[in-house]
Amino acid sequence: EPVTALIVAAGSGTRMGSETPKQYRPLLGKALLAHAVEALIGHPRITAVRVVIGAGQEAHARSALAGFDVGDFIIGGKERADSVRAGLEAIADGIVLVHDAARPFCPPAVIDRLLDALASADGAVPVLPMADTVAKGDSELRGTVNRVQLLRVQTPQAFHKTDLLYAYEEAATATPTDESTVMQQAGLKVATVPGDESLHKLTTANDWERAEMMLGSQMI
Ligand code: CTP
Ligand code: MG
Repeated sequence: EPVTALIVAAGSGTRMGSETPKQYRPLLGKALLAHAVEALIGHPRITAVRVVIGAGQEAHARSALAGFDVGDFIIGGKERADSVRAGLEAIADGIVLVHDAARPFCPPAVIDRLLDALASADGAVPVLPMADTVAKGDSELRGTVNRVQLLRVQTPQAFHKTDLLYAYEEAATATPTDESTVMQQAGLKVATVPGDESLHKLTTANDWERAEMMLGSQMI
């Protein structure tokens, strides 16, 4: 069964605040998107890597991914979920690993854990526990939440393409932030596997600086 890695890179990177959308910006000399592609493209269980980009981002994407075999770019949409759906319509049937271009590092062992877990569930996602105390609140605290039952959910997320398309048809949330949300809403079973701190998403300038330091000191 083919395993397609679908990397969504059609965002505008508002919270990063850089002129060029973050996925096309060089992280120590190589575009963030190129790091994400490179982390997946060599994995022995991944058949193909495809990339969803924003309308008008073709020139950025072509130059970021020169030399990588990712087929034709797929044009995404307004919200992340629109971009994922456009990607699903364009790729081969089989297993899909939906991944954010904003996550430049992915240990190969995480891919193995996800694909192994998918054999006995409808989906599989990498998760990490919460380390800080977690509370509700605004300018004052309105109740600490028991963090033992809370998880941070990362990408890549593994599904059978037809299941995920079905879940998106059924989706109750207009703008889900990931696929595990719509899969659960459709009543499908999503298994968890251990995630990795290196899968951290680069959202803010602070995330960017931290990733540059980790990469520069070869911690990754
Ligand atoms: N993404 C996408 N299509 C969109 C919005 C987001 O493909 N319409 C992608 C981004 O390119 C990114 C991933 O989804 O790789 C995770 O989104 P996020 O970190 O929120 O990136 P942006 O939406 O670009 O950033 P921001 O929300 O700060 O504008
Ligand atoms: Mg966003």
